[in-house]
Amino acid sequence: MDDLRDKYLGLISGASDEATLEDLRVQAVGKKGEISLKMRELGKMSPEERQTAGPALNALKAEINSALLAKKAALEDAALDERLRGEWLDVTLPGRARRQGTIHPISQVTEEVTAIFADMGFAVAEGPQIDSDWYNFDALNIPGHHPARAEMDTFYMHRATGDNRPPHVLRTHTSPVQIRTMEKTGAPIRVIAPGRVYRADYDQTHTPMFHQVEGLAIDRDISMANLKWVLEEFVKAYFEVDDVELRFRASHFPFTEPSAEVDIRCSWEEGTLKVGEGDDWLEILGSGMVHPKVLENAGVNPDEWQGFAFGMGIDRIAMLKYGIPDLRAFFDSDLRWLRHYGFAALDVPTLHGGLS
Ligand code: PHE
Repeated sequence: MDDLRDKYLGLISGASDEATLEDLRVQAVGKKGEISLKMRELGKMSPEERQTAGPALNALKAEINSALLAKKAALEDAALDERLRGEWLDVTLPGRARRQGTIHPISQVTEEVTAIFADMGFAVAEGPQIDSDWYNFDALNIPGHHPARAEMDTFYMHRATGDNRPPHVLRTHTSPVQIRTMEKTGAPIRVIAPGRVYRADYDQTHTPMFHQVEGLAIDRDISMANLKWVLEEFVKAYFEVDDVELRFRASHFPFTEPSAEVDIRCSWEEGTLKVGEGDDWLEILGSGMVHPKVLENAGVNPDEWQGFAFGMGIDRIAMLKYGIPDLRAFFDSDLRWLRHYGFAALDVPTLHGGLS
């Protein structure tokens, strides 16, 4: 029995893995193991022999079992130590910045524009992107037969068959927000309305979805002079220059009278735009005095109130300020493009902190 004990305790302590240990368990104390076979021999012994051999065998079996358990635990500890060494990680290292997304130039420019107009007392108004033809056209003095409807390359929504009401449209400009704001708050008004607009057009400078910012100021004595000052202040602040020259070109919009398109003096030097100097002019917006019929359509008395409105392309002024040549790239969702032209997430534009 002492030989068996020495043999197995030796083998167990030398076992290098759990599989070897299991083999040893089967050999020693398994059903047909050496110790189990010895126990079966007890029956052939005399009662006296059995009295000493029985307890001794049981004790040996118990000793081997606990040696097996202890070795198993030791092997498991060793395996865990091995893993911990292999998978070691210094959790005290500083985090690694994962600069995935950035602020899109359109969002940045919208924030810049909002900050500049907020400084001049303009609040932000909003309207739906899917609107009725009343808000998008008729209320703005663009009747059904008016050529402007065709010029706008309008996207029409579907009506159910048999429903003969005029279909809703994807708004072709932000001007319907003029009507909604006048209806909602009445005069006086000083708002801008930035947002998405839609026209069926696609080339280097046109995408079917783009962005405009509408401006609307209504009071008792607002004139074109106020419009001119506000736009000059805006352009100076936006392009971060001390002086600009604006050119008001007589134009026509059904919802303003008189109407003007506004250009800024600029030059192109080796492909980059310089605002405020040079011999070129660049159109940036449409504007005018709100047509009396439009005021009336929105429930504002034209004998009492008057004001100006303008509509400016956000994408266009973003391209100009940040030197982005192709409008289509704005909406490709290409991360490489965004990393090149995008803005840091915490770099919120403010007039005191700097716009861009
Ligand atoms: N809605 C016009 C356009 O999209 C711009 C505009 C707005 C013109 C307000 C005059 C007044 O072209």
